[in-house]
Amino acid sequence: MNDLNLQDNALLKEASFINGEWVKGNDTFEVRNPATNDVIAQIYNASLSQAEDSLDVAKEALRDWSAMSANERAYILRRWFSLMLEHQDDLARLLTLEQGKPLSEAKGEIAYGASYLEWFAEEGKRVYGDTIPAPSSDKRIIVIKQPVGVVTSITPWNFPNAMIARKAAAALAAGCTFVSRPSELTPLSALAMAELAGRAGIPAGVFNVVTRKNPQEIGELFTQHPKVAKFTFTGSTAVGKKLIAQCASGVKKVSMELGGNAPFIVFEDADIDAAVKGAVISKYRNAGQTCVCTNRIFVQRSVLDAFNTKYQNAVKQLTVGNGLDENVVIGPMISQSAAQKVAELIQRSVAEGAVIELGGNTSGENGNFFEPTILSNVTNNMAVAKNEIFGPLSAIIAFDTEEEAIYMANDTEYGLAAYFYSRDIGRVWRVSEKLAFGMVGINEGIISNAAAPFGGIKASGYGREGSKYGLDDYLETKYLCMGGI
Ligand code: SIN
Repeated sequence: MNDLNLQDNALLKEASFINGEWVKGNDTFEVRNPATNDVIAQIYNASLSQAEDSLDVAKEALRDWSAMSANERAYILRRWFSLMLEHQDDLARLLTLEQGKPLSEAKGEIAYGASYLEWFAEEGKRVYGDTIPAPSSDKRIIVIKQPVGVVTSITPWNFPNAMIARKAAAALAAGCTFVSRPSELTPLSALAMAELAGRAGIPAGVFNVVTRKNPQEIGELFTQHPKVAKFTFTGSTAVGKKLIAQCASGVKKVSMELGGNAPFIVFEDADIDAAVKGAVISKYRNAGQTCVCTNRIFVQRSVLDAFNTKYQNAVKQLTVGNGLDENVVIGPMISQSAAQKVAELIQRSVAEGAVIELGGNTSGENGNFFEPTILSNVTNNMAVAKNEIFGPLSAIIAFDTEEEAIYMANDTEYGLAAYFYSRDIGRVWRVSEKLAFGMVGINEGIISNAAAPFGGIKASGYGREGSKYGLDDYLETKYLCMGGI
């Protein structure tokens, strides 16, 4: 509808992509730019029966797609990867317009999402089986791996491209077919990916995108329909728990990438400059709206002043504004209510004794922007430490001993990512082994990449995305017993 200044206007799509066709619904919903509140697209709201059609066609397409050789599938996935990079500028622009993150970060997300397609295209060729010595000489035991079947997914607004790409890449490489329901706030990135999937030669029905405003009904359909073999979700723990319960009735295979409450520990032997750099990127990437974002910064008391001074100086440099403007490092939050939640956490923390060292307020005209904020004098019992902040707010907690830091870091229901900075090799091993999280960054604030297993433990979910482990999530293990030999 709008002229969004794309080089390739055909990447702007407003209908569901089902069986290789653009399918319109009877009514529409709006997509708004969080930086301006402008309506940038009117998306057709798929009916439930159209959503069900997507499962039928995915089941139908499974027969041929799963029978293809891994090489043939890799060839097509690689073309999809190349097209995503060829259209990186347009895809990034769409992403910034619908989600808000700065254009440079959006470009990074497109490259990151595409990297899963390239990586799994190759890894799909290495789905090895096994032979096992049998207990009697007239038998042989063989293990083969087969695609799970039709996979459905629900993904969030914070990474509208990469969260779909890393699930779909593994699923398709394994020989599964895929139906995606992107967030109603950010469907444009998913639809542009679908356009490129078609151009890459992904056969009709193999990759489908259903745009429907109401997530609950789609959730019920995607978790319970008999044609669905596996459901994969990225989002909050509260919603994830409900979806897991829904999957139970049909005994669906499930992977869940849920909320986090990442500790970032700075020990007294750390390189403080490196720790400051790591904390800034880990905390303020995507305006703090990332599941693996640093949530609590623990600093050993002997280096607290040195860290605080350098950290505040670095955070002061972060420019807030419209993600399309050059030099902007922190874009808008996804909505006014998201910004309001951060403001409320700050108010509660101050009432509990925290001190605002920097920022603390919404900024800009539409109430979606939030100043990069630092709170000191925080304790691990305050609401800001107990909850996933999901905003540009740092909470600094002092500690005295290694044991205390580990205890406080682990004192959360979540177990997604953790980070720590230390140059003592013994401490590096001790702390790495004791942190109860699925991923640990050691002297590193950015840990996500296609070759590594992304995922959590405890209330942060189960299953892994990326790496050879990510492929396992889309494969069944079948045991063949040959007798009479
Ligand atoms: C997420 O926020 O769930 C994804 C972050 C990442 O892939 O780094």
